[in-house]
Order: sequence, then structure tokens, then C-alpha cells
Amino acid sequence: MGRVRVGVIGAGWWATRSHLASLCAYERADVVALVDPDRERLEAAARRYAIGRTFSDHRPLLDAGLVDAVVVAVPHALHYPIARDALAAGVHVLVEKPLVLRSSEAADLIARARAAGCHLVVGYTYQFTRHARLAREIVQTGRIGELQLVSGLFASSVEAFFRGAPEEYAPPVEGTVTGPSARTYSDPALAGGGQGQTQVTHGMGMVFWVTGRRAVEVTAQMSSCGLAVDLVDAVAYRLDNGAVGTIASTGGLKPGQPKQQEFRYYGSEGVLLQELIHGKLSVHYADGTSEEIADMSEDELYPADLPARTLVDLVLGGRDNPAPPEPAAATVEFLEAAYRSAHEGRTVRTSELA
Ligand SMILES: NC(=O)c1ccc[n+]([C@@H]2O[C@H](COP(=O)([O-])OP(=O)(O)OC[C@H]3O[C@@H](n4cnc5c(N)ncnc54)[C@H](O)[C@@H]3O)[C@@H](O)[C@H]2O)c1
Repeated sequence: MGRVRVGVIGAGWWATRSHLASLCAYERADVVALVDPDRERLEAAARRYAIGRTFSDHRPLLDAGLVDAVVVAVPHALHYPIARDALAAGVHVLVEKPLVLRSSEAADLIARARAAGCHLVVGYTYQFTRHARLAREIVQTGRIGELQLVSGLFASSVEAFFRGAPEEYAPPVEGTVTGPSARTYSDPALAGGGQGQTQVTHGMGMVFWVTGRRAVEVTAQMSSCGLAVDLVDAVAYRLDNGAVGTIASTGGLKPGQPKQQEFRYYGSEGVLLQELIHGKLSVHYADGTSEEIADMSEDELYPADLPARTLVDLVLGGRDNPAPPEPAAATVEFLEAAYRSAHEGRTVRTSELA
């Protein structure tokens, strides 16, 4: 197979800004079809990227056998049914984060992908960076010893998304073919939650990818600050090796205020400090020595073109999937437990979710 035939499902902000731009400039891919029930968005994106076939629903696209792979970039609650249908049709899938909203759905997608021999990539852009690869290698080869504690802080400026006014979040959405729909991040039925499903998912996705662990117990406090979805979250958890962790997260920074995306992994033999936004990584060993890894350049910080290209490379025989579904499923499980914990006011064991 020389080129991979790709269908893009969802013609919204992220698909047009990142995935279509990336795939249409990639010599190994042919974007053959675009799907969106919103006619205006569909036509605008098809025109901009010169895509010949358009559909208002993903099923006729899959039934027509037109594609080898699809990119699923739709509101969170629709990730599962669309990815499930694509895998059932034997099509490889890149699905945006969060993988899905429920751990049972994540397990089902993983089983289907394995049974069908299909690749499943999750849109965790940060995992495609040099530092993420290195952080994972350092922790999983035991260089910081036995993991004892993980601390995370993720503060971002997305409150306007949760209020249903994403156009106020000017710099990232300016000049894009289609901006986020008002409801995608503000309607709990579509989004499944606010800061947790939109931002904590990035941070904990990284933690589960780097550590290779999953959570067994989760205790969360969340506040919506007058919105229909959570804006600030504080979560304490225990991992399956006995290590404990916390993540604190707010989407309420105002544009211009400095953002923080810091993760710290404390082991019996060393500490790994990972900072995502400014691209910093260092290791500090128990014997007093340190390793400063070269900062990432501006271009390396958020390689939004790589998830879709990686899917294409995998279909063509590549072996490297930096965003596989298993740690993404651990993130889904973590968030499902966190939302339940915040709602019920108690610690939730992830074993309860099955
Ligand atoms: N990895 C990242 O950094 C990143 C950044 C932004 C968004 N995202 C993710 O991308 C996804 C889309 O977000 P967005 O900001 O582009 O939202 P958006 O509202 O701009 O786009 C969603 C699109 O899906 C369409 N849609 C709704 N139902 C559909 C269906 N059944 N079939 C096909 N299309 C359908 C909508 O009409 C809309 O055009 C979300 O999962 C989001 O979390 C990821």
C-alpha cells in the first residue's frame, strides 16, 4: 500500500487546525472524505482542504469501504460510538482525547482493536515529544527507583470554552477554518465534564504513559464555579504499585496569566521533574548527581501534526505508537472514578467501575 486513504470525522476546530492541515501536507496520506452533520462546517472545511467526498454521518462512509483509517475529532460523548463503528468496519483509528468517557467503553475499544488487528492511537499530543519519550524511559527502566509519589499541576485558560463562548479564547482559535461549537465543551451531555475531561486528561494521560501504572483508588474534590461543568479539580489517588499522587487543575486562568503544566515523579533513587509548557526535563538522583536534559525548542513543544501522521505510518507498517489506548484507558478509568468520587463525596476504587 503506497498511500493510506483517510477519512476525517468531525470538521471542527481541532480537525481543521491540526489533523487536516497535517494529513493534507503528508505524502503518505490521501484524505478522501470528510464527515460532519453541520453542513456549513463541512463545506467550509472541504473547500479549504479540497476534499472531494463529504458525508453527514460516518456510517455511509464506513459502509462504502472508502477508507483504511479515520480520525475521530468530535465531541467527547461521540468518541465511543464512532470509534467502535470504525473498528467494526476493520478501519484503523486515531481518536481524540479523552479516548472515551467510561472505562467499559475503553475496554471494549481495546478488545475490538486487538480482535480486528487495527491500530488505535489517542490524540495525546504531548506524548509525541522527545521529553515524554525520555521521561517514560527513565521511570520505566527504574532509574529513579521504586515510584513513591507523583505530583501534578495543570493550570490553563479554558473557562470561556466551558461557558460556551470559545471565541473569547482568541489566540488558539483565531484564523482557523471552524471554531469550536459552543456546546462541545459546555454541554455536560456532550463533554462529559469540564476541566477533567478537557485538561486533566492531558496531565493524567502523561502520568499513566510515563509510569505505566493505573489508579486503584481515587478521591476528588471539584467545583464548577457557576458553570455547568467542573472548572477546578483536586484529586488524590493511589497507583497499583502503592505509590500515591495528586493532581490540582484549574481552567480559570485569564489569557495572559502564566500557565503551569508541571509533573514530578518521586522515586526511592531519584526525582524526575517534567514541565510540559516550557519543555523542561531534569532528573535528580539520591546520590546528589543531576541530569539536565536539553529544553525542547518552540517547535518541539506541541507537535500537533504527529498524531494523524503516526496513524498513517502505523498503517504502512511503522511500529511506534506513542499514544496507545492502554494508558488512555487508565486515564478514562481515573476520570470516571474522580467524577464519581466528587459526586458521591467518598473514595472510589477503580475496581468498582467494572
Ligand atoms: N489534542 C488536543 O490538543 C486537542 C485540542 C482541541 C480539541 N481536541 C479534541 O478534539 C475533539 C473535537 O474538539 P473541537 O475543539 O474540534 O470541537 P468542535 O466543536 O470545533 O468540533 C467538533 C465537530 O464535530 C462535529 N460533529 C458532531 N457530531 C458529529 C458526528 N456524529 N459525526 C461527525 N461530526 C460530528 C460538530 O459538528 C463539530 O464540527 C474533542 O475531542 C477535543 O477534546 C484535542
